[in-house]
Amino acid sequence: MEQKVAGIAGYGENAEHLAEQYESIEFEDVYRDVLHLFPTQPSEILDIGAGSGRDSAALARKGHAVTAIEPTKELREEGQLRHSMKNIHWIDDHLPTLKVAKQQARSFDVILLTAVWMHLEKEERKIAMKVISELLRLRGKIIMTLRHGPVPDGRQMFDVSAQETVELAGQSGLQVRHVSERQDMFSRNDVSWSIVVLEKI
Ligand SMILES: C[S@@+](CC[C@H](N)C(=O)[O-])C[C@H]1O[C@@H](n2cnc3c(N)ncnc32)[C@H](O)[C@@H]1O
Repeated sequence: MEQKVAGIAGYGENAEHLAEQYESIEFEDVYRDVLHLFPTQPSEILDIGAGSGRDSAALARKGHAVTAIEPTKELREEGQLRHSMKNIHWIDDHLPTLKVAKQQARSFDVILLTAVWMHLEKEERKIAMKVISELLRLRGKIIMTLRHGPVPDGRQMFDVSAQETVELAGQSGLQVRHVSERQDMFSRNDVSWSIVVLEKI
């Protein structure tokens, strides 16, 4: 039987409210520091932990073919309802193994992990880095954000630094292209973010 995904605790029961919150910010603001690192040609993009699909939809509108992975059923349904587009393919799958995505034997130009990586514990992060590196094309990029701050009640999150992430990436043949820090977009004073871009070399 499939094991429950610990990182999704607290998402399903608040999906509608969370989806409203996620959709209240713009793709261009979320990625303002790294917009120049997204491909300009139509590309294949994997959005892992896609939530309500805000970023998947923005990328699909730019002409990319997007695979949106979301293990929380309620959020996946919010996304399918809000962003019904032919070039977004939704999958029920999860880190660290991404069994379903791996079975499809596809590879991607960009892999997005926005506000997701800190849901994985240390051993899971090791497995996940190897798995996502294998799904990435040569010269492809992983664009990820890491949340720093107190863990909300009922969620599972861990302290993850940009430095640890870059070091782990190096062990999977990924080179750092960008690291920066920013304040929380929802104005929470005790929350901040790192944005990390890795490239397969
Ligand atoms: C804070 S939300 C971010 C959603 C979206 N990326 C965004 O930026 O709006 C974190 C998402 O990660 C998903 N998630 C949690 N654990 C996961 C795992 N092990 N594998 C994939 N996704 C996971 C949750 O279901 C949730 O949709």
